[in-house]
Amino acid sequence: MEKNQNTRDGRNQSIWQKNVSMFSPDSAFDSTKTYDALIVGAGITGVTTALLLQKAGLHCVIAEAHNPGYGTTGGTTAHINTFADTTFSEVESAFSENSAKQFAISIQESVELIHALVETYEIDCDFEWKKGYVYAQTKDETEELDDILNSSIKAGVEVAVTNQVPVNVAFQKAIVFDRQAQFHPLKYIHALQTEFTKLGGVLIENTLIQDITSQNDVHTASSTSTQIKAKAVVYATHIPPGGVNVLHFRNAPYRSYVIAATLTNDDYPEGLVYDMQEPYHYFRTHVIDGQSYLIAGGHDHKTGHGDPKQSFLDLIEFTKKCYPVKEIFTRWSAQYYVPADGLPYIGSLPGASDGIYTATGFNGNGMILGTLSAMILSDLILQGESEYEELFDPARIKPIAGFTETIKENADVVARFIGDRFGLEKIDSVSKLPADSGDIVEYDGHKLAIYKDSNGDVQALDPVCTHTKCIVKWNNTEKSWDCPCHGARFDTDGTVQSGPARENLKKIALNILKEN
Ligand code: FES
Repeated sequence: MEKNQNTRDGRNQSIWQKNVSMFSPDSAFDSTKTYDALIVGAGITGVTTALLLQKAGLHCVIAEAHNPGYGTTGGTTAHINTFADTTFSEVESAFSENSAKQFAISIQESVELIHALVETYEIDCDFEWKKGYVYAQTKDETEELDDILNSSIKAGVEVAVTNQVPVNVAFQKAIVFDRQAQFHPLKYIHALQTEFTKLGGVLIENTLIQDITSQNDVHTASSTSTQIKAKAVVYATHIPPGGVNVLHFRNAPYRSYVIAATLTNDDYPEGLVYDMQEPYHYFRTHVIDGQSYLIAGGHDHKTGHGDPKQSFLDLIEFTKKCYPVKEIFTRWSAQYYVPADGLPYIGSLPGASDGIYTATGFNGNGMILGTLSAMILSDLILQGESEYEELFDPARIKPIAGFTETIKENADVVARFIGDRFGLEKIDSVSKLPADSGDIVEYDGHKLAIYKDSNGDVQALDPVCTHTKCIVKWNNTEKSWDCPCHGARFDTDGTVQSGPARENLKKIALNILKEN
């Protein structure tokens, strides 16, 4: 039965949600059966992994806490690249020259896998090959661009210098990558999930896995409503949920801001475009129902830091300098995780029983690295090995001297852990709080996460994140409580929107029912 399930982990609607009605074909789940694999999460990583395994003859079940595409896949800008946020020269210096080459090949293979799946299943997901342009505007940026150019060539990636960039700003130097691509992410995963269920795979929604126990090579996953038994488990949830895991300290959560806009003329960029600012901006065009939209992103910051409203204002102002914006059609933000040493963590989950896998630390490259994760994890489950298992081993310990920013991230996690709980300024009343907004306030000697809805009704929550007890922060555009430590996010009523937290924020009964 068709259901409209276009929900996402935030109040703002992405352009993808606006024109696709996600639905899950009926599929029969059997709680008495031991499945070959349980995949937790129905974003691009989970759905692709499940399809590859099911296609190979395994019987799989996907458990999704909300609906497919609820997380970052529903909020991505869906750039498909043969280069990544972590440059090949960064990989070479943190790992080795051979690792940089292997990274390049693995990315290339994931691009080709996406294309092959689109072809094989004749997926109508607006897939298009594009050129990808990166341009530098200052001397420092040009030096960095040269480094990207040279290290990409060295790693075997096709790239060239160009004089043409589809953006109306001056630049010093630009490069162009051939055979990049774009698609509609929800249409794509919807088609994969349909193929998965056609092959006998099972998808169950609204099922938040809260605990997994393992015995005799069988894992039993529990939600509030059911138990699922499986021989292998894949956490396709970005950061693995649950108690403290080493990966929680090797990944920093970030939010990126996106607008979809119409232009006053037809100068929509033909290609994928990136500047070299820090953080960088990115542009592309997508045509929906005959209307072109410029999709512009950037102004990223760490989750629970910064001012989301201001990030949108800055992004809009910046975009207007580059393109003749007529109207902002929609705006939204999405979350990603920056890995400590620059490469994603894909493989066996450290500290867990054998047969439990994870995939996280995708940086801003979720479409390709989510697909790469599906390739690696399906190989590990089917054959017990992958040619990439060592490079992306989640248990690897690498010196991260080249990634000073990430070291700061981890220091910040610790500071937040201690400082926020005791250092917030005292706020005595919720009366100043505007409607449909939230804040951490001090009330009657207790810290509270207060949300006032548009009727003036007040919802009070314990602001202590149920993961490992950092204090959440109000996100004034997605209308959510975001944890600055490992990126858990909660709805205004405390419901978990994204992990690693599994438990909702505790509701606090207040005598305040209404503020005028
Ligand atoms: Fe880890 Fe909140 S996400 S403490």
